[in-house]
Amino acid sequence: MSNNFENYLNKFNEGEWLAAVEKLLPAIHEVDRNAVQIWFRFYPLGLFRYLAAAEDREKTIQKLALQGDFELKNQIDSSHKFLYGHRFWKETKAEIEHYAADFAADGAALDQVFGEIAAAVAKKAGAHQNLTLAIAAVGLMTLNQVGLDALKNAAGAVTPAKGLLGGAPDDIVAERQRDDSQGIFGFLKTVDKKFTVTWDETKANAKFPLINDEELATAAARDQSQKWREKDERCWEGVIPVECRSAACGTCWVGILGGQEKLAGVQKRERRQMKVYGYNQPADETPFLRLACQAKAHGNVSLVIAPWNGVFGRKIYGVDELELEPVTTSAKKLRETIGSVLKDSN
Ligand code: FES
Repeated sequence: MSNNFENYLNKFNEGEWLAAVEKLLPAIHEVDRNAVQIWFRFYPLGLFRYLAAAEDREKTIQKLALQGDFELKNQIDSSHKFLYGHRFWKETKAEIEHYAADFAADGAALDQVFGEIAAAVAKKAGAHQNLTLAIAAVGLMTLNQVGLDALKNAAGAVTPAKGLLGGAPDDIVAERQRDDSQGIFGFLKTVDKKFTVTWDETKANAKFPLINDEELATAAARDQSQKWREKDERCWEGVIPVECRSAACGTCWVGILGGQEKLAGVQKRERRQMKVYGYNQPADETPFLRLACQAKAHGNVSLVIAPWNGVFGRKIYGVDELELEPVTTSAKKLRETIGSVLKDSN
């Protein structure tokens, strides 16, 4: 049986949740400003509710071409490892449970609730509230999707960050902005500049090199240092899952934690295809979600790899007619699959 707080959170749709997060962005430390927006796109409420209401869930998952781990219930303690605020997860989870037990203020604004929980966590953890706001919002959406019993049953485990994310918040922000030195005559270089892409800030050495103006996925594919496919069956080449390499499948979407301004502006096709897949975000020139097979970098970039992919923009967000442009032969078969999936789901 749902409690008052679960019923209250259930009243809000995805747009209202995103608006509450956006309202709080200026109060969130820069270290988690992109991360919290990315997390809310990795676990969209609209998709969760669509699947929950489906008569035949497995068939619907197939129709939306969902692959990978898209369910929060399997990753209550870990989905937010890429947030700085993850280190406050144990306190956040406890505070949400405490708040849910006493909740009576049915007319409260969502951002106000985020703030109250973040303030209590900050006090308990001895941290500034600007570092606990993002994890408070994430924790509440997690409760909204998994339910109070499942949240209580989760261990509340925190995974210590061994990479860049283990540092101090201001240092992390500064490091994300830094580019590799090109040597003392680097300013003369035009074509052979080399940069570094960090693909997991929680791990030490989770990086691959990138040649100036190269797509993220192309650079990732050269790194054969591990058997990527054994870790994620979507990883045919490097650590970033890919399929078509032509913006035709949506497999390679990534969140940009730092350096989004060091990626070439999003082109019309990438922007439109992202909407078709359902990767919903504001219409910025260099947005925080990108297709790694399309995004070219001219500096160091730090990213988080989406744990799943799918094609659900039309069903969840009402994206209009799917008018795909001609694509390469290698992507044709996949295009046909996605096209028939969408046709069947009408
Ligand atoms: S690999 Fe298919 S969209 Fe990038």
